[in-house]
Amino acid sequence: MGSVSLKIGDGTARFRRTSVCSSAVNLLMLFSVVTTNLFALYAFSSHSQSQSSSHPLHHSNNISLVSQHLSLILREIDSSQRKLAQMEKQILGYESIDLSRPNIVPELKLFLHRHQLPLGKDSRTGITEMVSAVGHSCERSPDLLSQYMSYKVFDRCPDDWSLGQKLILRGCEPLPRRRCLAKTVAKQDLKPFPDSLWRPVSNKSVNWSGLGCKGFDCLKGKKIGSDCVGCFDLGTEKDRFVKVKGKNDFLVDDVLGLANGKIRIGFDVSGGSGTFAARMAERNVTVITNALNNGGPFSEFIAARGVFPLFLSLDHRFPFHDNVFDLVHGSSGLDVEGKPEKMEFLMFDLDRVLKPGGLFWLDNFYCASDVKKKELTRLIERFGYKKLKWVIGEKADGQVNLSAVLQKPVRV
Ligand SMILES: *[C@@H]1O[C@H](CO)[C@@H](O)[C@H](O)[C@H]1NC(C)=O
Ligand SMILES: *[C@@H]1O[C@H](CO)[C@@H](O)[C@H](O)[C@H]1NC(C)=O
Ligand SMILES: *[C@@H]1O[C@H](CO)[C@@H](O)[C@H](O)[C@H]1NC(C)=O
Ligand SMILES: *[C@@H]1O[C@H](CO)[C@@H](O)[C@H](O)[C@H]1NC(C)=O
Ligand SMILES: *[C@@H]1O[C@H](CO)[C@@H](O)[C@H](O)[C@H]1NC(C)=O
Repeated sequence: MGSVSLKIGDGTARFRRTSVCSSAVNLLMLFSVVTTNLFALYAFSSHSQSQSSSHPLHHSNNISLVSQHLSLILREIDSSQRKLAQMEKQILGYESIDLSRPNIVPELKLFLHRHQLPLGKDSRTGITEMVSAVGHSCERSPDLLSQYMSYKVFDRCPDDWSLGQKLILRGCEPLPRRRCLAKTVAKQDLKPFPDSLWRPVSNKSVNWSGLGCKGFDCLKGKKIGSDCVGCFDLGTEKDRFVKVKGKNDFLVDDVLGLANGKIRIGFDVSGGSGTFAARMAERNVTVITNALNNGGPFSEFIAARGVFPLFLSLDHRFPFHDNVFDLVHGSSGLDVEGKPEKMEFLMFDLDRVLKPGGLFWLDNFYCASDVKKKELTRLIERFGYKKLKWVIGEKADGQVNLSAVLQKPVRV
């Protein structure tokens, strides 16, 4: 029984424990609020009626009294309305998005509605209902979210893939699901693996509608962020990780050698077009590449090469259990502005998914200043990793690149 209900929640659903506020209690509260208001209204109207009939001439002198009563009642109505909105949120099972505000489309309410488990309480987990998850930051973009959730059910989705990504980049992650068909591409003939890793990806692998470029030739020479300088050009990508350009570059085989062939699965958060995963695939290591389609069709490109793209922002907790990866590969994309705690949340999550004894390859991490480098070094040292490789590049105006291969300690 439990397993059935749990399988439905493939990472996009969260469960909620039995809530004290059952629907019955909510209805009772609703009833009490409404009756309180009715009583207040009745008391007010009968009071003013008797007043005006017994002292008709003094009516105007008592205006202030009346307005006092009125404001009292208005305040009461206002607070009842707030209570009602709160109750609606509870009934819908969703507290952090204000579903009672205007312009919230019905499809979103429907998605967020709680669902009772068909066989009642699950004995193993103690849950009674399923709650669909949506990022709390979605609250900050209600208009975009409503736009995203406006479509014809069972029809084609609007041509708006970037809208979803826009929401993700604003922290609205996970996104709500939609009941419409996403845009597709024509059926393509896939290249066999491992040829697919280095052969030009067909323009037909991508539906270019809504993108600046209309083919991969256009993307080839482009610098798309710091992690993708011409990374759609497989001609130049071919050299990465197998040829060194500077002392900060390590070779895949050297790094794999540090683990005595004990690396089988890895997670790449360095951005780019899947070249790291491709090189690893040739060595029978399965790597998941984290990529958003920020500035180009990264996901389609990575998938067409025959490696695994994960569409997730780095602000999201990684959808993997603790201690699963043998290798994590990261670069400057890990850097975050602002409070050091922000970076710590990310580093702790990467540490979490890495196995004890697993390797963390920090690849050309760009430190804009000496302070930044010291901060990063201190943070890494606090994790107690063993430095298998540690290279600080040439300094240019205090800017420096740091590359390292670190081994996660066994903490018992
Ligand atoms: C206002 O109404 C009250 C009855 O509610 C009355 O006793 C009082 O005299 C009135 N005040 C004035 C200033 O007329
Ligand atoms: C690309 O997507 C648009 C919008 O969904 C659709 O109209 C078009 O037919 C698609 N193009 C291809 C080649 O599938
Ligand atoms: C992609 O389209 C361009 C024209 O837009 C063409 O020159 C190029 O050869 C195509 N590339 C592939 C791999 O199909
Ligand atoms: C990868 O696995 C295949 C099949 O097991 C094997 O033939 C090949 O030698 C392996 N390649 C490497 C680099 O380990
Ligand atoms: C750091 O590395 C990046 C690319 O990996 C390079 O473009 C940049 O020039 C390097 N900076 C320094 C100061 O070495």
